[in-house]
Amino acid sequence: MQTNSESTKEHVNQSVDLTQPSDASGDIRADRSFDAITDHFEKKVYGGLKGDIRLAVLRRDIFEYSAQMSESLGRPLRILDVGAGLAQIAIELAAQGHKLVINDISANMLEKAKASAAQIDEDLNITWYVCPYQELPEKLGTENSEKFDLIMCHALLEWLAEPAAVMDFFDQQLTDKGALSLCFYNPASFDYRNLIMGNFNLLDNTEYKADNKKSLTPNHPVAKEEVESWLTAHHYQIIRTSGLRVFHDYAPLKRGGHNDPDAVIRMELRYSQLEPYKWLGRYLHILATR
Ligand SMILES: C[S@@+](CC[C@H](N)C(=O)[O-])C[C@H]1O[C@@H](n2cnc3c(N)ncnc32)[C@H](O)[C@@H]1O
Repeated sequence: MQTNSESTKEHVNQSVDLTQPSDASGDIRADRSFDAITDHFEKKVYGGLKGDIRLAVLRRDIFEYSAQMSESLGRPLRILDVGAGLAQIAIELAAQGHKLVINDISANMLEKAKASAAQIDEDLNITWYVCPYQELPEKLGTENSEKFDLIMCHALLEWLAEPAAVMDFFDQQLTDKGALSLCFYNPASFDYRNLIMGNFNLLDNTEYKADNKKSLTPNHPVAKEEVESWLTAHHYQIIRTSGLRVFHDYAPLKRGGHNDPDAVIRMELRYSQLEPYKWLGRYLHILATR
């Protein structure tokens, strides 16, 4: 059961700036740096099968598309990963010969990512930026010719104080026919998992906010319908949608095929693309273009 959650808010004791986004209780929200929970994140999210499933689905969705795009353009792609964290997919794309810009607000997260990149026995074309993504336009000074063919934004939306604002950033940084790989926490999966676990009191409590500082369950997730409405408003067409972990997290009993990690990944890959199962993924991945 997920009973706890890391707050994305900062509690402000003195005066409250009304121009800042706040929630119902009046607490000001702020973007959430993972500096203090880097090791915890690495272990909890990527230390086991959960992380292997996440990466397997993203690899399949992104690498096929990036290879096609690169072939049709006749050159390596310019790719940006915002809120990249450990940047596994971005580093693999760099190893495939693409030109990467990797960003995170957390220096600790990017230190780990740089250490992984350094283990690859090839010259990788990666530029690293430790800063809020909001500062990237100024740092990059993006000219038209330097816009990105692909922008990846994975599990970042739900940690931002103003998630919708990132869409303007994409508009500014993406080439005309560029692609957006948007992966975000699926709030429907929180409800469904708690239904299965019998945590009805938690679902009845509309004010529920857990307080475990280490929890990786965001308090401010964005629903699929909202993300889709942003994409429509910003003139994107959705090319592909997948669910990440559509059954693995829901199984209270590890029996039969659940004891075989390769079989679990194979089934997760298959059902990640099938309706209605994919809409119950713990995360959703949308690949969209303009
Ligand atoms: C849940 S992690 C996701 C990391 C990675 N993209 C992944 O999918 O594994 C969210 C990341 O967003 C970063 N972050 C939060 N606010 C940010 C901002 N304004 N600009 C850039 N990165 C930010 C955090 O430091 C953290 O590393």
